[in-house]
Amino acid sequence: MGQVVIETSDLSKTYDGFTAVDKLNLHIEEGEIFGFLGPNGAGKTTTMLMLLGLTAPSSGTVQICGHDPGREPLEVKRVVGYLPEKVGFYENLNARQNLEYTAELNNLPKREAFEKINNLLSTVGLSQVCDQEVKKLSRGMKQRLGIADIWIKDPKLVLLDEPTSGIDPEGIEDILTLTANMARKGITVVFCSHQLHQVQRICTRVGILNKGHLVAEGQIDRLGREAIAGGRYRIEIQVAQVNQKLVDALKLVEGVVDVQGSAETLLISCDKDLREQISKLIVESDNSLLGMKIEEYSLEAVYKEVLS
Ligand SMILES: Nc1ncnc2c1ncn2[C@@H]1O[C@H](COP(=O)(O)OP(=O)(O)OP(=O)(O)O)[C@@H](O)[C@H]1O
Ligand SMILES: [Mg+2]
Repeated sequence: MGQVVIETSDLSKTYDGFTAVDKLNLHIEEGEIFGFLGPNGAGKTTTMLMLLGLTAPSSGTVQICGHDPGREPLEVKRVVGYLPEKVGFYENLNARQNLEYTAELNNLPKREAFEKINNLLSTVGLSQVCDQEVKKLSRGMKQRLGIADIWIKDPKLVLLDEPTSGIDPEGIEDILTLTANMARKGITVVFCSHQLHQVQRICTRVGILNKGHLVAEGQIDRLGREAIAGGRYRIEIQVAQVNQKLVDALKLVEGVVDVQGSAETLLISCDKDLREQISKLIVESDNSLLGMKIEEYSLEAVYKEVLS
């Protein structure tokens, strides 16, 4: 087991009698990319603010790398990088100056800061515009600058609140790659997003929040299996002749979880991509394979299922 980076216990937040976050229990370890999902108003941003110590919990506890953000704000700030929904910079300073300011706040020696800032500007693709005042940058460029900014202090944990919103497709690829690279270096990431296919691509685990409650939590594979009864894949086949013998034979193929049939079509749930084994079996049983389609469950399906 890796080092525990985020641990919350019955974490709750109430605004004037309205419960925005209700008894949330999270346990996130070093190097994980945790997808934090849920509809508008579910309580994602409120949770992040509590993790950062920017808003006090109404009840329950938070520990970030063993520190309580309310009682030890400096220890927590030192290790956490935060990309808010709306990134804020000094608009009259240019991109580079903003990063220099962050470096100074984090007591980075000037020389080290200079090199680091150059590398980061290039990593996020802003080298060409780094001398422009931030107010002249586009929304996507500011978002990229926000990502460079959280990297300056070598955080242990980064909280990204919708990091790809307003970014062009190429930029999204860059951000997903940057995020995956962060995790590879042992940085823990909480990736809050409505873009389920992006989350599915990079997250190791997800939590789905609804009206302040964590309604699902775990590896996408496992959630998929639980939410959509059966295996990870669904293979739909059309054969010339559906009969019980064929159904029974298919059920015996290793990895097949279930077989449902109708006149010509069979729906096979399985844990592996068994297309090769299945087509071989059909041909060997003197049947004709007329069509075959494979579908892997998606995070989108899990999301719809747990929120329905
Ligand atoms: N400062 C506040 N005062 C009162 N209510 C608040 C405050 N901040 C958030 N809320 C309420 O708490 C609930 C959760 O809001 P939050 O911003 O955490 O949702 P979210 O999951 O981040 O949503 P989105 O996907 O739209 O960003 C909402 O009902 C919101 O209206
Ligand atoms: Mg939010």
